[in-house]
Amino acid sequence: MSTMPAIDWNSLVAAAREVREHAYAPYSQYQVGAALLSGSGKVYVGCNVENASYGLALCAERSAIAAMIADGERTIRAIAIVTDGPVPGPPCGMCRQVLAEFADDVPVHLASAQAGSMARTTSLSKLLADPFRPHMLRGNPGGTP
Ligand code: THU
Repeated sequence: MSTMPAIDWNSLVAAAREVREHAYAPYSQYQVGAALLSGSGKVYVGCNVENASYGLALCAERSAIAAMIADGERTIRAIAIVTDGPVPGPPCGMCRQVLAEFADDVPVHLASAQAGSMARTTSLSKLLADPFRPHMLRGNPGGTP
């Protein structure tokens, strides 16, 4: 039996919904909020941050991961993402790979802020079947030579 407490999806989704309000998305008008549950049980949030140089946009998921790393944590247990649009948007390919750096497989809950949209729960292993892993770098787990 696992000693891990159950994931409180309601509060994770609420945190993602709340931080989404802070998204800086004047170019796409597509606001995204992400809330992740870390190994220690803390919740870290992030939102997308766009730029006049469009290609520099930072996704909500990687923004939440950066907050977790900055706080000294290294493992993700679950993530909730709240997007815009008629259907919830799953994380982009880049964010999937960055999530995989800190999680073998985690549940990913997807919701949209738009009324009437259907939320769904998937997993990182479904979204990214064969991630590039740190140990693949010269056989060294940390990647450093
Ligand atoms: N975006 C995210 O924040 N997460 C994703 O996984 C998909 C895309 C953001 C980037 C950009 O600011 C806006 O959504 C439109 O692509």
